[in-house]
Amino acid sequence: MRRPSARRLLAGVVVLAAIGAGVGYAVYRAVSFQDPAVRVSGPAENPLWVPSLATPAIADDGTVRYDIELAPSTHDFGDGRVSPTLAYGGGSLLGPTLRLGEGASAQLAVTNRTGEITTTHWHGADVPGDDDGGPHSPIAPGETWIADFDVVQSAATLWYHPHRMGTTAEQVYAGAAGFLLIDDASVASEVLPREYGVNDIPLLLQDRDFDENGELAYELVAAGRGDQDPYLFVNGTSNPYLDVPAGLIRLRLLNGSQGRVYDIAVDGAALTMVASDGGYLATPAVLDDLELAPGERAEIVVDVPEDGVVSITDDAFGRVIELRADPDLGRSAGSLPERLATIEPLDLDGAVERSFHLEEVGDGWGINGRQMDMGRVDLDIAHGDTEVWTLTARNGIHAFHVHQVQFQVVTRNGAPPPPEESGWKDTVRVTGSDTVVIAARFDSFTSEVPYMFHCHLLDHEDLGMMGQFTVSAAAS
Ligand code: C2O
Ligand code: CU
Ligand code: CU
Repeated sequence: MRRPSARRLLAGVVVLAAIGAGVGYAVYRAVSFQDPAVRVSGPAENPLWVPSLATPAIADDGTVRYDIELAPSTHDFGDGRVSPTLAYGGGSLLGPTLRLGEGASAQLAVTNRTGEITTTHWHGADVPGDDDGGPHSPIAPGETWIADFDVVQSAATLWYHPHRMGTTAEQVYAGAAGFLLIDDASVASEVLPREYGVNDIPLLLQDRDFDENGELAYELVAAGRGDQDPYLFVNGTSNPYLDVPAGLIRLRLLNGSQGRVYDIAVDGAALTMVASDGGYLATPAVLDDLELAPGERAEIVVDVPEDGVVSITDDAFGRVIELRADPDLGRSAGSLPERLATIEPLDLDGAVERSFHLEEVGDGWGINGRQMDMGRVDLDIAHGDTEVWTLTARNGIHAFHVHQVQFQVVTRNGAPPPPEESGWKDTVRVTGSDTVVIAARFDSFTSEVPYMFHCHLLDHEDLGMMGQFTVSAAAS
């Protein structure tokens, strides 16, 4: 494992812009300690790459099977930056989009063609512990690991990525990540835009940096909020645009970055959020902006005017992507229902209460004073129990993630959660001044293979800010 470096201590260094034909970036301000983002300026230059939909094999008994390989590759990031990468499914970066319907029996087979041990975790999926793909399910080089489970949750934007203790950040940074979409037969799913790649677009946001050879410059940063890199990529594309039909376009935003929190807004249309990590909100929420921490997803809908342009923006980078109405593509078929889902607040009567404090421990990070230990199970949860967890941090920014369950945010700093946190979530932002109370019901699978709870800032996770829980049948 590489040690954290002190590169980020070069605070306030002013980087001069490479200004010239074909260079899509211009630096507009001094690079600071935590936020060396290079503003995206000038016209959007590159067509967005949209991951292909993987084609499953359907067995006679209806089981939906996907076979994907994780293998080394080479990706052209533009501007002469051609780098070794990792990719699922034979591409040069990221991976194909997998789709599963609610109620389906699924088999997800992952073959490891890299030279090092990996795992593949289905982030946000409610699956048995030995199918979860956490650190206890290593895939040795050359081996195939198969997760098989029934899909017990409704429509949601999930994702998959490696989860090996100590190398998660490095493998994700190299490109190992993809979308896993759950479909259902709800009214919202029927009427919202749902033509993949046309009016239903996955957008995976990652910041990256490069060395003098144009190769990815991965590093683990112990200090502060971890690695913050200067260049933004959306599905691996820099400074992207996408030609779309006019009308409602659904964007499935995923923050797949190592440590960066985005502050998303929309220029040219309203930002209407329809789903959080675990599925639809109760009703669409019109927001000024939306913070997205590593691991979090948000589905938003924007109304692109005829012949018009809508930009998705981030506070640090400026433009994320430009959506251009293309008359040849006609009008989007989707519409926006007034109600999306019914979300019953969990009954907290008699719930088990626990607290989790996020802070520096040793030369890394920990939870409640302890660093991750593969041999120690931190909590055993009784199957069927509802638990209420109070999350606090000593300082900085964290993204608390729990495997297996989707939780509800009960309160943020004593108040009801804002609309963007009012639905099902599996990852939630916790800053040094926050007290966030979440609740979950552990009523699907029991598991002796531990599930993880951890900070999704990958630097923090790899440096110890993680713990484990099992779910045991309640004594009768
Ligand atoms: Cu995105 Cu423990 O995972
Ligand atoms: Cu996860
Ligand atoms: Cu953290």
